Amino acid sequence: MTQQQLKQQAAQAAIDLIVPQLKPEMVLGVGTGSTVDLFIDLLAEHKGRFKAAVSSSERSTARMQGLGVAVTTLDELAEPMPFYVDGADEIDTQLRMIKGGGGALTREKIVASAARQFVCIVDATKLVERLGAFPLPVEVIPMARAIVARRLQEIGGHVLERAGFLTDNGCVILDVAGLNMLEPEQLEATINDIPGVVTCGLFALSAADVALVAHADGVRRLS
Ligand code: 5RP
Repeated sequence: MTQQQLKQQAAQAAIDLIVPQLKPEMVLGVGTGSTVDLFIDLLAEHKGRFKAAVSSSERSTARMQGLGVAVTTLDELAEPMPFYVDGADEIDTQLRMIKGGGGALTREKIVASAARQFVCIVDATKLVERLGAFPLPVEVIPMARAIVARRLQEIGGHVLERAGFLTDNGCVILDVAGLNMLEPEQLEATINDIPGVVTCGLFALSAADVALVAHADGVRRLS
C-alpha cells in the first residue's frame, strides 16, 4: 500500500469518527497538509451537515472554499469547537507531535487551542518511538532570524532557514535538526521563550487527544 493510500485511509477514519456527530450549528477546526487535503475533499461531501470550518492556513481555506465549505474565523466562535483535525510530521505514543512541515504551525497551534479534541490523522510512517528525526520547524519574526538561530545552535540545533518561504503570517521558518527531544514539553517551552520566536512545531504541552494511524492492515486509534 502506498503512503498516499494510507493517508487516504487516515482521512476516511476521521470522517467516520466525525460525520455521525455533525450538527447544523457545529464549527470544525481544520489543519493543513496533504493528509488534511484528503480529509477536506471527503468533508466537503457533508458540507450541508455542519455550519462552517475554521482554517489553519490560506492553503486549506482556498481548498475548502473551492469545494463550497463555509470558512469562518475564531472571532465568530461562541464556544470551543468539538474537533480539530490535522496531520503531523511525527507523533509518538503519548500523542506528542512535531508539526510545521507545511509551515502552518502557528495557526495550527492557535486553531487547535480553540477545540476540545485534537484528532491527528497520519500514516504509520509518522509514528515514532522518540520525536526528533524530523527537523523541528520554528517560526521566527524575520528581523530576529540570526539571533534566534544562534540561540538554537547554543542548545544543540543545526539550523537551516527554509529557502524562499514565508508563512501566512509573513515570518520565516528555521528548520532545526539535532535537538535532544528526551523532554519535548521542556524543549517546547524553552524554544517558545526565545525572543523573536513566534512558536515552534512541537505540540507536546498540548498533545493530540486522538490519533488515527493508518497501517497496511487497517487504521489504529490511539488515545
Ligand atoms: C503543516 C503540518 C502538517 O500537518 C504536516 O506537515 C504533515 O503534512 P502531510 O499530511 O502533508 O504529511 O504540520 O504545517
